[in-house]
Amino acid sequence: MHDWITDNLSAAGGTYQTCIAGIPFLARKQGLVTVTCDPRNVEHILKARFDNYPKGPTWQSVFHDLLGEGIFNSDGDTWLFQRKTAALEFTTRTLRQAMGRWVNRAIKHRFCPILESARLRAEPVDLQDLLLRLTFDNICGLAFGKDPLTLSPDLPENGFAVSFDQATEATLQRFIVPEPFWQLRKWLRLGLESDMSRSLQHMDSYLSDIISTRKLEDGNPHDDLLSRFMKKKESYSEKFLQHVALNFILAGRDTSSNALSWFFWLVTQNPRVEEKILLEICTVLVEARGELSSSWFDEPLGFEEVDRLMYLKAALSETLRLYPSVPEDSKHVVSDDVLPTGVHVPAGSAVTYSIYSMGRMKFIWGDDCSEFKPERWLSPDGTKVEGHDAYKFVAFNAGPRICLGKDLAYLQMKSIAAAVLLRHRLTVVPGHRVEQKMSLTLFMKYGLMVEVGTRDLRPILEKVKAVAVEGSPTINGGVALAKDNGHEGSTTDHQLAAPVA
Ligand code: HEM
Repeated sequence: MHDWITDNLSAAGGTYQTCIAGIPFLARKQGLVTVTCDPRNVEHILKARFDNYPKGPTWQSVFHDLLGEGIFNSDGDTWLFQRKTAALEFTTRTLRQAMGRWVNRAIKHRFCPILESARLRAEPVDLQDLLLRLTFDNICGLAFGKDPLTLSPDLPENGFAVSFDQATEATLQRFIVPEPFWQLRKWLRLGLESDMSRSLQHMDSYLSDIISTRKLEDGNPHDDLLSRFMKKKESYSEKFLQHVALNFILAGRDTSSNALSWFFWLVTQNPRVEEKILLEICTVLVEARGELSSSWFDEPLGFEEVDRLMYLKAALSETLRLYPSVPEDSKHVVSDDVLPTGVHVPAGSAVTYSIYSMGRMKFIWGDDCSEFKPERWLSPDGTKVEGHDAYKFVAFNAGPRICLGKDLAYLQMKSIAAAVLLRHRLTVVPGHRVEQKMSLTLFMKYGLMVEVGTRDLRPILEKVKAVAVEGSPTINGGVALAKDNGHEGSTTDHQLAAPVA
């Protein structure tokens, strides 16, 4: 579907209008949708006329049962208040430390041992499934301080995770049929709607237990997001607090794991990029931990080590340019408007901006737009991650609703990517089909089946040494001493403050 939209947009010069259902009374404005990938229009929608393009009533009613009026699913003052509260928390160093702790614990005690055991047994694994479990555990730790351990050697089924999946699947169904149909199904408790109500009950009791225990604890020593919200105000209702947790889980689980699945797949297809990533990791480790030894593998990379992996960050951004976790996003038009490219959008219609198509437009990224080239994110001397126009790359959204978890996501993804690549050489199981799934986020339809091999670091270390002997400050065009200039990939205080100013 995303490639089809991309073809349409290419043929139409970046923007077209279509009608999804011309049924009178069922679809507002005959279901008129304006589809665009033009950065000028995207900037107009996400920033210049932000108030005219909220999520809108359709999005809100579809998600209401799962997300309530949480940050992800609200507009206006309800959204602004939560954004201000959450943005303050996301600037604190302690939240970053908490993410570092959760992710490194899971890498060390569960993810690496599971991959190693697959290697020893010579059995393929579904990397997408493992990554989804890992990011789910991470985000639960961060959101409400409890790791559900869905990533464990026997890959257990977890009631909360299953309920969460069923509820998101049923929510997706609601997008496909007109509202009166799913409302009727909900009322009659038919099909996925009946699963949905059971799942909501399950999640409700799971989260209620956590919140009640937390309320009883003296002084609440926890640093998770739920506790932070609870410390702000005693009187938040239990439902509101549950929705806080669920909104963050939805925002931060599939997004990171989808990005990592496409990243690992792209790396297996691009040995040149894989080698450069490894050269960078080894250079940092030689400097920080000395020559190759068990100290390289005993502990996952720490904050400062991860911070220096700029080529890896560029490769992750490049993955998100081609395979954005949220491939299409939509807004509601409040009042009649004309987009910068001259298209008239009537009140009550929808505007979809195709993030997936944006990464594949020659007029935005040049003739090599479909190539996987992390170098396009680095400065010409290769020592900095360069910023691109914020409205050209909107995988993390842009403007007042820019993703709050962007920095945390890079920290998490870099830690996981470095841990895996340092230890293992992955190869996609021959004949395995890597295809996109029709879902809100960009899953792989059949997972990502990989064989896990041993990583031989010797040739990489020889290259690292050769560069050191030559006294060159950089490896392969500027990998070794690269620095983040703060433009791309870092959610600065300024960006967080922007929406509330
Ligand atoms: C690769 C990983 C990620 C990607 C690609 C991503 C992408 C996005 C996108 C596209 C949006 C806008 C969605 C919309 O409004 O329709 C968004 C919003 C958001 N993201 Fe992320 N995200 C990622 C990871 C995370 C993580 C790990 C967290 C939390 C720890 C997080 C928290 C949020 C929140 C709270 C919002 C709502 C912001 C608002 O509406 O004001 N994200 N993200």
